Amino acid sequence: MTRIVHLSDLHFGFHRAGLTDHLLERVNGAGADLVVVTGDVTHRGRRDQYDQAAAFLSRIQAPVMAVPGNHDVPLYNVLVRYLAPYAGYRRAMGPELTPTRQAGRVRVLALNSVDPCAVQRGVIREGEIGRLVGGLDPLSMNVVALHHPLEHLAEVDKELTRRAPEALARLERAGARIVLSGHLHVWATGAMLDQTAHPGVLQIQAGTALCGRPSDRQNEFAVLQIDGPLLTIERHVAPMDEPSFRPPEYEYFSHESGIWVAHQPAEKPIVPGATETAFSTA
Ligand SMILES: [Fe+2]
Ligand SMILES: [Fe+2]
Repeated sequence: MTRIVHLSDLHFGFHRAGLTDHLLERVNGAGADLVVVTGDVTHRGRRDQYDQAAAFLSRIQAPVMAVPGNHDVPLYNVLVRYLAPYAGYRRAMGPELTPTRQAGRVRVLALNSVDPCAVQRGVIREGEIGRLVGGLDPLSMNVVALHHPLEHLAEVDKELTRRAPEALARLERAGARIVLSGHLHVWATGAMLDQTAHPGVLQIQAGTALCGRPSDRQNEFAVLQIDGPLLTIERHVAPMDEPSFRPPEYEYFSHESGIWVAHQPAEKPIVPGATETAFSTA
């Protein structure tokens, strides 16, 4: 059994400062083997914002891996944006833009979907899909982590990442089973599974863990518990008008049949580290 915390869109610099310590307490209480951060760690890619992000991430006890988001490259300094878009990210987050990590029987492979030539829209670069396919481990549950979703719900009006349909189809065929993303600041997993033509891949689109923009309805993060073909997701939600995170909501999925289906287990899985006591103090 492997437990992975999925954080996305921290947006340090435009973050909900009063929630930061509550988030850290929940993450450190989650019994995680790995924490995956799917981009937008800062709001504008500024040095002070990276310093805040790095300070926060350094207080997480589990190993952390991250990928950049479109907010992690400078927006207004055009010269740096084009000539050295990841200089600030690398200084704060480390040299790797596309790390791979193994946690038990789970392999997480990062994909950098940021396009410095676009403000919002992402891109999957030529050759990146092949690199990912070549890195999949047939003995593991393979998880791909990137900032931009590879598919959108029908109601999303943002432009889909370039080459995303090809990436999703090829990753499904090659045996990737989960895609973690963020960017839209709206949670979608079961709804995505209902609409997708690729049910071999469960797309977990995270909300924003800390961003405090007026358009953000809530902050949240998820804990994935992977046990063979079974996945339990704990969603930890902090509404904007509440001081901290509520006790988690649970969603259950199974890949036993070769595609993902939502299901209700007869018994709630045992969740180490995530005790009722821990939640009641949040
Ligand atoms: Fe974001
Ligand atoms: Fe984003």
